[in-house]
Amino acid sequence: MKLFIDTANVADIKKANDMGVICGVTTNPSLIAREGRVFKEVVTEITSIVDGPISAEVISLEAPKMLEEAEELIKIHPNITIKLPMTVEGLKACSALSKRGIKTNVTLIFTPNQALLAARAGATFVSPFLGRLDDIGVDGIELIREIVQIFNVHNIKSEIIAASIRNPLHAKEAAKAGAHIGTLPLGVIEKMTQHPLTDAGIAKFLADWEGVR
Ligand code: E4P
Repeated sequence: MKLFIDTANVADIKKANDMGVICGVTTNPSLIAREGRVFKEVVTEITSIVDGPISAEVISLEAPKMLEEAEELIKIHPNITIKLPMTVEGLKACSALSKRGIKTNVTLIFTPNQALLAARAGATFVSPFLGRLDDIGVDGIELIREIVQIFNVHNIKSEIIAASIRNPLHAKEAAKAGAHIGTLPLGVIEKMTQHPLTDAGIAKFLADWEGVR
């Protein structure tokens, strides 16, 4: 499973990028709003940090308006991926963009059928939100498993981004389930680096080393 970072915070993006573990970025309107910065400015800065797909989401609800927004966004950088909502209008925009070779990410996917529709509309990426399902007592990892199974059976090339990952267990289970990509906040990436035995091991190595000097 490849890893993207799920944030619009450039400091967090730089930290994850410096670790060498991420190869893309996902943003959404809530994440952009949290930064209190101009949308295009922050997305442009992100493209200068990470050399990989950068998802920038449209906010219009009608396909023609989504396409207008997409026109402006793709001018920013070739790595810009147009993030579209999983709606009839979003599928129409996805289909039009994919026919032109523009990368798309269909977001807010909560059922296998939504993922299948997004893939058939030509989505480069489909984003099932596993954490938001877990929040309402529905097994988010099972959704990832089902989408992986359907895409494998039908040889579908769209990549599955396990999104709305809240903790390291989500990341591990999404990887086991076969998601192509997991998009994670920096906090989850940092937690994944940690284990008390790693810290204890380092402390012991250093203490032993001091003894032979
Ligand atoms: C992914 O593309 C979304 O931006 C994100 O994973 C949503 O996560 P949340 O449910 O924590 O808001």
